[in-house]
Amino acid sequence: MSNTWHETLPATLNRAWSLLERGTKDGRHAARFPTLATISETGPQQRTLALRKANRADATLTLYTDAATPKVTELTKDARASLHIWDQTSQIQLRIAATVVMEPGTAEIWEQMPQGARTVYGVEPPPGTPISDPEGFDRTPNFKKFLELTLHVRGLELVALGLPVHRRAVFRAADRWTGQWLAP
Ligand SMILES: Cc1cc2nc3c(=O)[nH]c(=O)nc-3n(C[C@H](O)[C@H](O)[C@H](O)COP(=O)(O)O)c2cc1C
Repeated sequence: MSNTWHETLPATLNRAWSLLERGTKDGRHAARFPTLATISETGPQQRTLALRKANRADATLTLYTDAATPKVTELTKDARASLHIWDQTSQIQLRIAATVVMEPGTAEIWEQMPQGARTVYGVEPPPGTPISDPEGFDRTPNFKKFLELTLHVRGLELVALGLPVHRRAVFRAADRWTGQWLAP
């Protein structure tokens, strides 16, 4: 990675996408586990999800979830979401605004998934249901509960600390990703 990436807007956008791509490949990288924020009836909600794919060409990010989780209800009512990453190593924060499209996960991905990983899709009673015994639930893999969330990125903001001064830039799909520096 060039250490001059922060000098131009296009190189800064490249840096943001390379960080996201790294998260899809490196289980130890901060971008592997972003925070997804949605809008619920009682206010904002956030949770950690694993980042599965990052496709710069069409500006999409992919996450997987159980179709019975509350976030799916929230996204059905309001498809706007925000994704947040703080990478301590590179001192970069990413804040992504997206519109989420939900579709059943493919059989191809399901078949490649280890059995243990499949059990998170099909928790009964459904995730978030009050239970009297903390272990009072079943984890039976259920392909029908395997849901793919595609985040269509509308905007991406990067804050980098140091360098030697802080940098902040925003990029928007509506501006064809040309980007704009912001006061940090
Ligand atoms: C490290 C970590 C990774 C997680 N990965 C996922 C994931 O990829 N998909 C998912 O639906 N939930 C994942 N979870 C669980 C969510 O954070 C959340 O508890 C669950 O999806 C229910 O969210 P909801 O009630 O907001 O719908 C993960 C949690 C942790 C701590």
